[in-house]
Amino acid sequence: MLLFGGLSLVSLFSAACSAYTPLSDETLQKLPSSGTDFDIKTGAILAPILRTRVSGTPGNAAVLQHFVDFFKKELPEWRLEFHNSTSTTPLSNGLEVPFRNLIATRDPPGTRPGDVGRLAMVAHYDSKISPEGFIGAIDSAAPCAMLLHAARSIDKALTKKWEATADSLELDEQQGVQILLLDGEEAFLSWTDEDSLYGARALAADWEFTYHPAMSTFRTPLDSIDLFVLLDLLGSASPAIPSYFKTTHWAYKHMAEVEKRLRGLGMFKSSPNHPANVAKRENKKPRAEPQFLPESDKPADRFYGGGIGDDHVPFMARGVEILHIIPSPFPKVWHEIEDDGEHLDMNTVEDWARLVTAFMAEWMDLEGHFDFPRTEQKQKREINFEEKTEFAIP
Ligand SMILES: *[C@@H]1O[C@H](CO)[C@@H](O)[C@H](O)[C@H]1NC(C)=O
Ligand SMILES: [Zn+2]
Repeated sequence: MLLFGGLSLVSLFSAACSAYTPLSDETLQKLPSSGTDFDIKTGAILAPILRTRVSGTPGNAAVLQHFVDFFKKELPEWRLEFHNSTSTTPLSNGLEVPFRNLIATRDPPGTRPGDVGRLAMVAHYDSKISPEGFIGAIDSAAPCAMLLHAARSIDKALTKKWEATADSLELDEQQGVQILLLDGEEAFLSWTDEDSLYGARALAADWEFTYHPAMSTFRTPLDSIDLFVLLDLLGSASPAIPSYFKTTHWAYKHMAEVEKRLRGLGMFKSSPNHPANVAKRENKKPRAEPQFLPESDKPADRFYGGGIGDDHVPFMARGVEILHIIPSPFPKVWHEIEDDGEHLDMNTVEDWARLVTAFMAEWMDLEGHFDFPRTEQKQKREINFEEKTEFAIP
């Protein structure tokens, strides 16, 4: 039994690994920027999320509708599902509060649920009930916006890849991708096992016993998750994300590596060595390049397990592999009224959006399948040439 388990894990692992091709420099440079879509007042993606959206309130429903509208308009190939549950809360006087998770899935054509593993990208969209008027820009409006942007940025390349590989890829080499926008992460009164993670707990519990057809490769939607990447508290300047879990450190290293490469290519707007930031200061000397993910070289005996309660917990308890992208220490605005659009560091938000897009594109093995508009391609190449000549990483 043990040996059997060991063998099947090894073969799954090598299948996932053999498909991992880094993006070329050219692709990294041309990934679309989030640009005006992340404007906090008028941006088509971010602005509608920057409002109070406590679970069970009209603001929450409006943000959920915004996600649905976005997928229907921009990403019609993604299958949308609601996962609805109800629960009492310490503040609901015995009444049931509704919690609604939105699941957007894109699987290779011709596959059935249960045939393919998936990369699940996750953030919560509800906001905390107190202090009154709390917006939760890093917690987690900005992470939700990053996921919508990233999904849109890789969508056409997914189509092209699946067209190009329709006849050559075996079923077990195919992968799907999923965006989970979870409700009810925040506690109403104070954080306990019962007062927090309402949406995630209900979803993990239901998916554990939702069976795919007999003979499926993956027994349940929970088993189908190859990696659960949870984004939280992202959007303040100078974040440091530890590598929390030894079993997914290899995935952490992939994200850290693509971060390094984006920085080296001058694509990180928050970098002190980005030409725009160098131009603003007197001393033009290159500065030490920071990293959002600084723990690539963490020794194997330094993983103590994350003590952070968040939406991954009910999934991890059921054996799902987790990559938790949350800064430690938490940003200063965490759970303060200051956590609003105005306190986001927009360069950092845009850099995260680019990094998450690049990570997803590499995971989904999309190198060679991006089709950037021609005129834009030419313009960008000229800009990049200029940037390269001015730009040096120490
Ligand atoms: C779940 O909630 C959504 C959003 O309110 C609603 O549109 C949908 O009909 C609900 N689904 C079920 C099965 O109740
Ligand atoms: Zn929070």
